[in-house]
Amino acid sequence: MRKIEISTSAIIYKDISELSAEDNMLMNKAIEAREKAYAPYSKFNVGAALLLDNGEIVLGNNQESAAYPSGMCAERVAIWKAGSMYPEMIIKKLAISASSLTAKVDKPVGPCGACRQTLSEYEINQKAPFPIIFMGEVGQVVKTESLLSLLPFSFDSSYL
Ligand code: THU
Repeated sequence: MRKIEISTSAIIYKDISELSAEDNMLMNKAIEAREKAYAPYSKFNVGAALLLDNGEIVLGNNQESAAYPSGMCAERVAIWKAGSMYPEMIIKKLAISASSLTAKVDKPVGPCGACRQTLSEYEINQKAPFPIIFMGEVGQVVKTESLLSLLPFSFDSSYL
C-alpha cells in the first residue's frame, strides 16, 4: 500500500483588471456570451469563450428548456460548436464567466464535472494543455494551466 499526493495549482487574480491583455479580452468575450444565455429557469447565466490557435474566438452560453434536464452548459455549447466548425482545431485557452439574476456571483465559477470530462477529450486529442480562466460576475478570477489538472484519475479512451 502506498499513499500518493495529487496536487494542482492555480493563479488567483484580485479581479479581471489583473489579467493579461489577451486573457482580459477573452474574458470580456465570455461576458458578452453570458449576456446572451438562455437560462429562464435557473436564472444562472454562463458564458464561455474559446480562443483557437487559428485566431478564431468561439463563444457559447447555457441553453435551457422547460424540461429542465434537457439543457446544456455554456462550456459544452462552446466546445462542440468549435469542434463542429474547426475539427482540426487547437484550443489555446478558455474563459468562463457566470452571473445570476437572483444574487451577485462574486466567487469564481469553474466548469461542472460533465464539462470537465468533455473538455478533457479535446485537451487529450490536441496533446497540449490549455489554460482555463474562470470567474463569477465580479471579483476573483482563477487561472489553471490545464483541464486535466482539474480532473485527476480521469476516464479516457485508453480504457475502451
Ligand atoms: N452551467 C453552465 O453553463 N456551466 C457550468 O459549468 C455549470 C452550470 C449552467 C447549466 C444551467 O443552465 C445553469 O448553469 C444552472 O446550473
